[in-house]
Amino acid sequence: MKKKILFLLGPNLNMVGKREKNIYGAETADSINEDVKGWAEALGFDIEIYQSNIEGEIVSKLHSVFDTKDGVIINAGAYTHYSYAIRDAIACIEHIPTIEVHMSNVHARDEFRHTTVIGAVCKGQISGFGKYSYRLALEALHDIFESEGK
Ligand code: DQA
Repeated sequence: MKKKILFLLGPNLNMVGKREKNIYGAETADSINEDVKGWAEALGFDIEIYQSNIEGEIVSKLHSVFDTKDGVIINAGAYTHYSYAIRDAIACIEHIPTIEVHMSNVHARDEFRHTTVIGAVCKGQISGFGKYSYRLALEALHDIFESEGK
């Protein structure tokens, strides 16, 4: 059975390719999503990609994976730094490995980006490798499943 992964993108990540190109690059969100799909399929995953700019929708989407997915990769955008609701939603699905991901190196940017309120309930954090942060997160999930013998 293929492992089912949710790739969850938060606010403003639909604007990648148009927004702050010096930080996030010129490649569009759609084009990056195509790469993510390809990488996921190459690792044998069944991937769903979901983007929302709305905190409550992200919370509900996280609840929906409770018994439907095997792993989550989340770039919560700015919500990473202050959304206790998203943190608690990740804690609701603590039986599902969740990886926190950022395209930019959040530790090298504004001070408010150095804090993550979701990090403590995630398996780990990948930050700073552009779209390849997503590939590293897929590989991390793959390794987690292998090491759990699943
Ligand atoms: C981001 C970093 C966040 O600080 C920022 O608010 C984003 C994108 C990243 O992928 O580097 O929207 O999560």
